[in-house]
Amino acid sequence: PADGRYEAESAALSGGAVVATDHSGFTGSGFVGGYTDGNKGSAATTFSVTSTGAGSAPVSLRYANGTGSTRTLSVYVNGSKAATTSLPATADWNTWGTATENLALASGANTVAYRFDSTDNGNVNLDSITV
Ligand code: GCU
Repeated sequence: PADGRYEAESAALSGGAVVATDHSGFTGSGFVGGYTDGNKGSAATTFSVTSTGAGSAPVSLRYANGTGSTRTLSVYVNGSKAATTSLPATADWNTWGTATENLALASGANTVAYRFDSTDNGNVNLDSITV
């Protein structure tokens, strides 16, 4: 029920999440990093997403994970936890993959946040979401 790509570097960043450009292959003007162990429990990227109707929509996160192992982040829709998204390793920090969650969006304005909660192991970079 929505459409478009939202760049992480244009989203609201908090808790140590920060715009970076020190790897290649990103879209837009950069990506978001800072999902490091020192920011565990706080780092977050919050997208403002407009939906043309209410209902479940596939939301794809474009991310890089050069750690060599699967990592997780917590996904919040309009402030409530909606999913733990699993982010398999990509070949290196310059290689981007996608992970899709079906999220229940309201009609009109929504927030979709990717948080490094204490239950997650983070250490990924975020490029964009596609709704
Ligand atoms: C590396 C990588 C960063 C990344 C970080 C992490 O330092 O170069 O881009 O953000 O790992 O663990 O998240």
